[in-house]
Amino acid sequence: MGYMWAGRFKGKVESRVIDFTSSLDIDKRLALYDIKGSIAHAKMLAKCGIVTAKEGRNIAVGLEKIKEEIEKNRFRFKPSDEDIHTAVERRLTEIAGRDGERLHTARSRNDQIVLDERLFLKDVIKEISGGIKGLQKALVAKAEEVFPCIMPAYTHLQQSQPVLASHYFLAYTEMLERDKQRLADAYKRVDVLPSGVCACCGTSLPVDREYLAGLLGFSGISRNSLDTVASRDFLLEPAGACAVLMLNLSRFSEDIIIWSTSEFGFVELPDSYCTGSSILPQKKNPDVLELIRGRAASSAGMLAGLMALLKGLPLSYNRDLQEDKRLAFGIFEDAAGSLGILADIVPALAFNGRAAEKALSEFTLATDAAEYLVKKGIPFRQAHGICGAMVRYCLEKNKSAAALDMKEWKSFSPEFSEDIKKVLNFKGSVRAKSSYGGTSPELVKKEISRWRKALK
Ligand code: ARG
Repeated sequence: MGYMWAGRFKGKVESRVIDFTSSLDIDKRLALYDIKGSIAHAKMLAKCGIVTAKEGRNIAVGLEKIKEEIEKNRFRFKPSDEDIHTAVERRLTEIAGRDGERLHTARSRNDQIVLDERLFLKDVIKEISGGIKGLQKALVAKAEEVFPCIMPAYTHLQQSQPVLASHYFLAYTEMLERDKQRLADAYKRVDVLPSGVCACCGTSLPVDREYLAGLLGFSGISRNSLDTVASRDFLLEPAGACAVLMLNLSRFSEDIIIWSTSEFGFVELPDSYCTGSSILPQKKNPDVLELIRGRAASSAGMLAGLMALLKGLPLSYNRDLQEDKRLAFGIFEDAAGSLGILADIVPALAFNGRAAEKALSEFTLATDAAEYLVKKGIPFRQAHGICGAMVRYCLEKNKSAAALDMKEWKSFSPEFSEDIKKVLNFKGSVRAKSSYGGTSPELVKKEISRWRKALK
C-alpha cells in the first residue's frame, strides 16, 4: 500500500526519509487509545450520516479485531507503517476493505495524536496518583513503626534539633500529597476532547463533537481548532508534575542513602534491594536509590526538552511535536517505576532508633536553652548570644553541657536555675515542640492517624 499522503507526490520518497520520520517505535504504545478513539469516531460518523450505519458497523468490527490482535500481541506492523495511526488504518482496510477507507473522514492525524495522548494521560495520571498513594501509605506505616524514636534533624546537613523520626517520614508524605494535587489539577486540563478540529481549522462535514466527548468520557471540548492541534501544555503539566515528583523521590533516596552509610547507620537497607561490587567484597550498595536520584536528573532534562520543543513553534501543528512522546513517556516511566520500587523498599527499611538517638549532639538542645531564657523574659537575640557562649565554653573546655554546675550556668546568665537541667534532654525537647506542625509526639501521633484515615 502506498502512503496515505502519496497522491500529490510524483516520485518515490527516499526510504531514508521514511525511516527518519517514522514514529511507530514510540507511538505504538498508544495503539489501544488510537483504536478506542477510532471506534468512537466511526460511531459518530454513522450517527451524523457521514458514513452509513452499515459502514460504521463494519469499521467498528474491524477495529475490535485489530484491538484483539494488539492485545494478544499478534498485530503485524509493516515497515511502511509510518506511525500508529497509519498502522491501524492500513490493517483496517485489509479487514474491512473500502469501508475502512472511510474512517479517516473529518479528522486528521494532527487531532488524532492529541486525542491519543489525552486518553493515555488520563490513565497515566490515575496510575501515578495511585502509585503516590501506595508510597504514602508505606511512609505513614513506617512513621508509625518508628514512633517515638528521636533522631537529629538537619539543616545544611549539620545537626539542628532533635526530631521524631516519624516526623521525617511524614514530611515526605506531605511532599507527595502536593505531587498528587498537582496531577489532579493537571487532569482537568487533560480531560478535554480535541477530536473534530481536523488538521487545524475544523471541518465542513456535520460532525457532532459533543456526542464524541460523551462516548470517550471527556468532561470538556476544545474551543479553538488551531490551539487544539498546536498546544502541548496539557502534556507539559503532568510531565512537569512528575518531574517535580521525581525531585522529591530523589531527595528521599538521598536521605536514605546517607542514613544507610556506616557513618550514620540510622537505617539498614534490605539485601534484596541492594547490589554488590565486582571488586570490593564487603560492599552493599544502594544502587536502586542512586538510580532514582539519577533518573530525577534525566526527568528534569526531559522536561526541559519538552519546554524547548514548544518555544518558538509557529501555530499550528509542526512535526517537531512528534518528539513530545519520547520525552514525556520517559518521565512517566521513571516516575511510575521509582514509585513502585520505593513502595517496596520503605517497609523493608530497618530503622535503628538507638543509633539515631546516639548520634544526637547535646548541642542540638541549645535552642531549647535559649527558649528557656525567653520564657524568663530575656529577648531572644540576647538569649541566642548567651547560649552560643555556653556552647563555645563547653567546646573549649571539652565539657558536656550536662556536666556544667550551677555556678557555670549562672556565669552565662543569672536567669539560669536548677530547672535548666530538666529542659536539656532530647525527649523533653521534642515534647516541647507543640506548635502546630511541630514534632511533639502528641501532634505527630495525631498526624499519623489523620494520614491513616486520609489514605484509606
Ligand atoms: N506522528 C505525529 C505526531 O506524533 C502524528 C501527527 C502527524 N501529522 C502530520 N501531519 N504529519 O505528532
